[in-house]
Amino acid sequence: MSSPPRIAVLASGRGSNLAALLDARARGELPIEFVLVGSDKAGAGALRLAEAANIPTLALDPRGYPDRRAFDLDLFARIGASGAEWLVLAGFMRILDGEALTPWVGRMINIHPSLLPKYRGLHTHRRALEAGDAEHGASVHFVTAELDGGPVIAQARLAIQPGDDEQRLAQRLLPLEHRLLPAVLALLASGRLQWRADAVQFDRRPLPTPLILGEHGLE
Ligand code: GRF
Repeated sequence: MSSPPRIAVLASGRGSNLAALLDARARGELPIEFVLVGSDKAGAGALRLAEAANIPTLALDPRGYPDRRAFDLDLFARIGASGAEWLVLAGFMRILDGEALTPWVGRMINIHPSLLPKYRGLHTHRRALEAGDAEHGASVHFVTAELDGGPVIAQARLAIQPGDDEQRLAQRLLPLEHRLLPAVLALLASGRLQWRADAVQFDRRPLPTPLILGEHGLE
């Protein structure tokens, strides 16, 4: 990995997690270089954030492709051409084709708003509420062909409160996501976190359980 490591980010929406990465870099907490921000939505707020930060952007419209695989293969080809060494899915709302993503396994992470392996897929806050869970949270994991199924690197947890509905729970979780993702990326950039033998290694040892976001970062 070069120094600083070259990162591409994919986002479909407002990009609050991208903003958190940019802010962490601006504070000197995240020594990475953003080489591309891509989206499947030309109107994504994340692309506006990237433009404002002078980061090259890419908007690919899936409607211009015959099928999912064709779109994903072109998307990954362009990400590769950007020189990216790592790929961060930060609010990217498409399911990626397993074959197209294979070359990126071990170099691609995703932030998902649930305590994986619970609630893979969509509507995670609602499902946690409906299940009557005491806790909810977010997970950062390596991406594999299995939807939200790759090895979990780190998690942030929060107690579900009596007044929580889907929107309030999502709003209370977001600030934790904004601390979790930069913290994981910083450990990847430093080499302390690695992908080895299809698993997560932390300080050269297999990580038996996900790191947990505490007061002072990941523990
Ligand atoms: C976040 O909750 C993230 O966990 C999920 O997409 C949501 C929106 O992310 N993957 P952002 O505000 O666009 O970064």
